Amino acid sequence: MLNRYAIATLVLATSAAATVAWSPSSAQSAAPAPAAASEDQQLIARGAYLAKLGDCVACHTAEKGKPFAGGLGFDTPVGKIYSTNITPDKDTGIGKFTLEDFDNALRRGIGKDGSTLYPAMPYPNYANIRPSDVKALYAYFMHGVQPVSQANKDSDITWPLSMRWPLSIWRHVYAPDVATDDAAASADKDAVLRGKYLVEGLGHCSACHTPRGMGYQEKALSDTDTAFLSGGVIDNYLAKNLRGDITDGLGKWTEADIVAFLKSGRNDHTAAFGGMSDVVEHSLQYASDEDVTAIAKYLKTLKPVDPNAKALAYDDTAYKALISGSDRSNGALTFVDNCMACHRSTGKGYEQTFPVLAQNSAVNSADPTSLISIVLRGGEMPSTKAAPTHYGMPAFDDRLTNQDVADVLTFVRSSWGNKAPAVTADQVAKIRKDSGAAAEPKR
Ligand code: HEC
Ligand code: HEC
Ligand code: HEC
Repeated sequence: MLNRYAIATLVLATSAAATVAWSPSSAQSAAPAPAAASEDQQLIARGAYLAKLGDCVACHTAEKGKPFAGGLGFDTPVGKIYSTNITPDKDTGIGKFTLEDFDNALRRGIGKDGSTLYPAMPYPNYANIRPSDVKALYAYFMHGVQPVSQANKDSDITWPLSMRWPLSIWRHVYAPDVATDDAAASADKDAVLRGKYLVEGLGHCSACHTPRGMGYQEKALSDTDTAFLSGGVIDNYLAKNLRGDITDGLGKWTEADIVAFLKSGRNDHTAAFGGMSDVVEHSLQYASDEDVTAIAKYLKTLKPVDPNAKALAYDDTAYKALISGSDRSNGALTFVDNCMACHRSTGKGYEQTFPVLAQNSAVNSADPTSLISIVLRGGEMPSTKAAPTHYGMPAFDDRLTNQDVADVLTFVRSSWGNKAPAVTADQVAKIRKDSGAAAEPKR
């Protein structure tokens, strides 16, 4: 469904090891001098786990391609670039990379030939990974991943725009310093600090969830500013506000709600869709309970952007109008015909199956991008160990006009106590075009 996060199945020799939860405490309580071979195995298994948290496979696997062999396209303002082969193949992959070469690419955005990588590779986030974790990742990519012979694709960008030196200027301006091991010596003992480490670094949550500035840089790479994780648009979805805001952030969610969402892609407030569905399916469902709890605890420390916002309260006016048939507006009628069977006249849906729309923080986000996309293109919940069934929502691009979509979403955003701005047909038209959805049906 999503170009950027193509679905890939991981078939790895170490996949069993990869799902073994690694926690800092178990790694530190090292048994007396294990044999060298098993020490290597442990390092590789830890690297496999970290690669899951970093979701390297999502970007480095083409649609229907071999895991980590690269070739997935990324749009840039000047043309398309492709992710590279990061399997240990000596000729076409990274088999000849030393630990230093690997570290330079991963955390500094510098390729083996010294040129600068496109920031589509989230090295400004990965700069936060500690050297000891880089070492484990390197061990995994050298010894735990199957080599695949597949040449890298050249970018579609023509000369002179294909010259990479402007990227190095970008890097000098925007890339942060890389982390050291000692700075984090005590961090693993504290769940909030562990969560911060994973969110800011390997999890690269901010690459999607933080708004971008003039130079396409993330406005903040850590919680020094309330722009951090306050919401960013990616692939025609809003990777929404994760801060403590009561209406459009995670203010109403408990730590347990966040844990359930990250592990299973659903909870009583929402279900994961768009790019987040893939993040849960390919990455977060594999995180250990300690690590998801740490992430949840850290997210709960983020202060709201708007501390004065008032919590929304349920209001049954729309429900009464729907059951009595008194609301004859196009928005209400479109809802009755197309949405009500699943999301119900109460807007409360069915728990863990069809998400509640009343007081839903995605529905009440000022920016309606995600809602327009899910109505046009439909959605599918991730399938996880914790919740294997992926319930879906059909696409309405070939059934509803831009005006219908605008009206039904405006209805949803102002019913059952929801309070969010109206959606316009122009906003729908733009996303219909940008997302490659079907053309508007003729009436
Ligand atoms: C959001 C997408 C994305 C994610 C996630 C991602 N990468 Fe990348 N990576 C890219 C792209 C795109 C490139 C190519 C950049 C270029 O050509 O300038 C790249 C390049 C690289 C390179 C340079 C390879 C070479 O041949 O020069 C390495 C090494 C690498 N990535 C490793 C990783 C690892 C390890 C992870 C997980 C911890 C990871 N990447 C996660 C998108 C991503
Ligand atoms: C590839 C982009 C991408 C990355 C990386 C990403 N997210 Fe998301 N996330 C999204 C999108 C898009 C949504 C909106 C759709 C939805 O609500 O499921 C979202 C939604 C969420 C939600 C639901 C919030 C709500 O109120 O409904 C949570 C929680 C979340 N992300 C946490 C995280 C965390 C934690 C990380 C990092 C470990 C992360 N995300 C990384 C794209 C991303
Ligand atoms: C067949 C049942 C079904 C129908 C019909 C349906 N939906 Fe959905 N809807 C779902 C499911 C399932 C999800 C979760 C999808 C996902 O996670 O990718 C969802 C998600 C949503 C969301 C995102 C909420 C969240 O927090 O995940 C919105 C908004 C939404 N639907 C609105 C609508 C509107 C408006 C219509 C009518 C035009 C509609 N739906 C029709 C089943 C349905």
